[in-house]
Amino acid sequence: MIPSAPDGPVDRSVLPSTAEIDADGRLTIGGCDLVELAETHGTPLFVYDETHLRTACREAVDAWGDGVAYATKAFLCMAMARLAHEEGMCLDVATGGELHVVLAAGVPADRLVLHGNNKSTEELAAALAVGVGRIIVDSFDEIDRLEALIADPPELAGTVDDGVMPPRWRPKVLARITPGVEVHTHEFVRTGQEDSKFGFGLTSGAAARAVEKLAALDAQGIVEFVGIHAHLGSQVFALAPFAQAIHVLADFFAPLGLPELVVGGGLGVAYVNGEEAPVMADWAASVADACQEAGIAADVRVTAEPGRSIVAAAGVTLYRVGTVKDVPGHRTYLAVDGGMSDNPRPVLYGSGYEAFLPRSADAHRPMGVRVVGKHCETGDVVVADAFVPQSTSVDDILCTPVTGAYGHSMASNYNKVPRPAVVFVADGIARVVVRRETLDDLIRLDV
Ligand code: LLP
Repeated sequence: MIPSAPDGPVDRSVLPSTAEIDADGRLTIGGCDLVELAETHGTPLFVYDETHLRTACREAVDAWGDGVAYATKAFLCMAMARLAHEEGMCLDVATGGELHVVLAAGVPADRLVLHGNNKSTEELAAALAVGVGRIIVDSFDEIDRLEALIADPPELAGTVDDGVMPPRWRPKVLARITPGVEVHTHEFVRTGQEDSKFGFGLTSGAAARAVEKLAALDAQGIVEFVGIHAHLGSQVFALAPFAQAIHVLADFFAPLGLPELVVGGGLGVAYVNGEEAPVMADWAASVADACQEAGIAADVRVTAEPGRSIVAAAGVTLYRVGTVKDVPGHRTYLAVDGGMSDNPRPVLYGSGYEAFLPRSADAHRPMGVRVVGKHCETGDVVVADAFVPQSTSVDDILCTPVTGAYGHSMASNYNKVPRPAVVFVADGIARVVVRRETLDDLIRLDV
């Protein structure tokens, strides 16, 4: 695809799947007019296309089969947990907090996968008590904790109805391995390399020792050791590293005769005009081909944990423009009513986004601006190099698409800015799934 001119309209490919632009240039998603949504629900506002979300979940299940888990860290609220579960996905939770939210949403514990490089005794106990489907074991300390907990279950108040873990409940566990494969992505979200806080290194021999320990615990009936897990990183555009990881892992994995292999998450998404990312089916097919070539038995359940690729493009953020400041000789700053508190990705990773006016979504965008937030630091950038229509002015609603992943989930109250509401839109109806924080919420925890 030839990238659009920098001042062209926003590409349809970065808009949610039900996006439509009417004859006046106004954008609707799920049959809801975005400017009206902003008027009704206030700004900043996260808007998710429910059809897009459901389709993405279904595509993941079609591509990988049963067991594919939605990585809830990308975006989690009870409605999202329910939606992913209804569409047949398992859910990956990485903390006791994520576990709490998905259980509160009514997702059955056996559909959950527990992650975390530093799971506390309490988190492990809670997971065991409810009977999570899988635990991805990340360290020798965790193995010791699990063994001790299962041998001597604590009384757990308020976790399960009777508050007591069933004696010698036997969790299914996988060992997380770092295969030593580096992917081309931001160093903060690279995880498959040897020098990592995650998992057991293959070349150091830690992986072999972990497997030995888990096999021994399996033999004693303490755990059920079912597989190996590896996650390479996030926002990965190339499929080759996943295949490479399979080849690296195969010699280690095949002789173990285990039934499950998980390749983690990481499928990249297109954020801006002209960017292209592989689709879910291609990712699964390239991993399946690599497994076959590497001699991994056909009956092994090979699966994945996509997060970003399920939710990123389904979500957009609506802001209201508050000031337009021209700094002669430099640039024009367009300040909106959110910023690094609802999307810290530009500050953290230098991530780029498109920006456009939903009242004029097919308009050309000749005016180069820097979209900034309302926080008290210069780094508070929403879109460093944005192009917007010449008519953009104070009070306009500005939309940044592909903000459905790691925006709301990494949102903060910096400068005591209340976190935005989240609405799901479908068939002309917008339902609030997370209400906007109020000023009183900001002092709710103060004692
Ligand atoms: N599985 C594991 C073990 C993970 O650590 C992650 C993401 C995933 C699955 C999901 O990866 P995804 O499909 O979403 O790439 N805050 C960063 C991304 C951090 C990803 C952390 N782990 C960002 O905004 O880019």
